[in-house]
Amino acid sequence: MNNLDVHPRTISSLKKARITDLTSLLSRSAPDIERATHLSLSDVKAVQREAALAVTRRPLTNALDMYNNVCPQEMRRHTLSLGCKILDGTLQGGFQSQGITEIAGESASGKTQLCMQLCLTVQLPTSQGGLEGGAAYICTEDVFPNKRLVQMIQHFGRTTASKINFGDNIFIEHTSDMDSLWYCLKTRVPALLNRFNIKLIVIDSVAALFRYEYSLNQTFERSKKLSLFGAYLHNLSCKHNIPVVCINQVTENMNGYTTNGAIKKTLPALGLTWSNLVTTRIVLSRTPHTLTVGHSDNSGDCIEKYETPVRAMEIIFDSHLPNNVCHYVIDQEGVKGIS
Ligand SMILES: Nc1ncnc2c1ncn2[C@@H]1O[C@H](COP(=O)(O)OP(=O)(O)OP(=O)(O)O)[C@@H](O)[C@H]1O
Ligand SMILES: [Mg+2]
Repeated sequence: MNNLDVHPRTISSLKKARITDLTSLLSRSAPDIERATHLSLSDVKAVQREAALAVTRRPLTNALDMYNNVCPQEMRRHTLSLGCKILDGTLQGGFQSQGITEIAGESASGKTQLCMQLCLTVQLPTSQGGLEGGAAYICTEDVFPNKRLVQMIQHFGRTTASKINFGDNIFIEHTSDMDSLWYCLKTRVPALLNRFNIKLIVIDSVAALFRYEYSLNQTFERSKKLSLFGAYLHNLSCKHNIPVVCINQVTENMNGYTTNGAIKKTLPALGLTWSNLVTTRIVLSRTPHTLTVGHSDNSGDCIEKYETPVRAMEIIFDSHLPNNVCHYVIDQEGVKGIS
């Protein structure tokens, strides 16, 4: 209150009327304050305007500024490249820097591979689709596949001709139950965000803990916790302007349902509560087709050829993208779109 740019007489009148903090100043109507303080209505409105400006966390901006990308840094949306032109093209640049992106899919569809690739692309300069920062990777299911990451880093460093030490900027946390996940998100992740330049949070996976820690008759408790969890992740994402990527399992749907004219036998786990918290839903799946790819040695020369399954990446819903599907393969270098 004392820092407001108004006449000291106004502040002392407010204090005499026991309006001593900004909350009470802003939550009461101007005529009410006028009566209590005997100030003029214009003085009350002036002090309320000053108080409103003092508590505005985000700088004021308008739609035209946002459209022209001249708004303040924290309000600019960035996209994080997936490290492949075809996949980026499907997502119109990559994953959005604000909101929760869910990657759901059956086992071995490539969810972890894709997220590991994001942990590398996030470190690239913005001119190459990165966010110039590190990644926090929270594992709740399996142990983080270190060996595979090292293999991907070798190839990624070569193809991007980058001198970044990619392995130094990926922070891996393992959590085995809900309490440790919550502790990690509330304590470890904010500490990492403050100390290191973290620009991506990955949770691999959300389904594991929520599915196994709550039984069928605890759906209400589960929904409540999921809502808290989702709101917290949205807050982290918006506050730091970074993408939060959550891997999800799929659940069998006996009757099947239709999207884009195709009948689906599986759907992302955790139900409607979680679906409503997700900003972008992407589903990965394996197709019956295969493609022959080359396996190369450390110098990049192809030493053998082998068949790998063709997989599909489908945008189920998103606020700014149309439903779309593209195909990709996984080889020793990582995840690559195919036309
Ligand atoms: N070096 C490699 N070369 C070719 N393909 C690979 C390589 N490493 C992994 N893969 C492919 O990636 C698949 C595993 O992908 P990933 O671990 O991302 O699956 P996931 O969707 O996370 O599965 P889960 O739900 O079980 O965790 C393997 O089945 C394999 O086909
Ligand atoms: Mg996995």
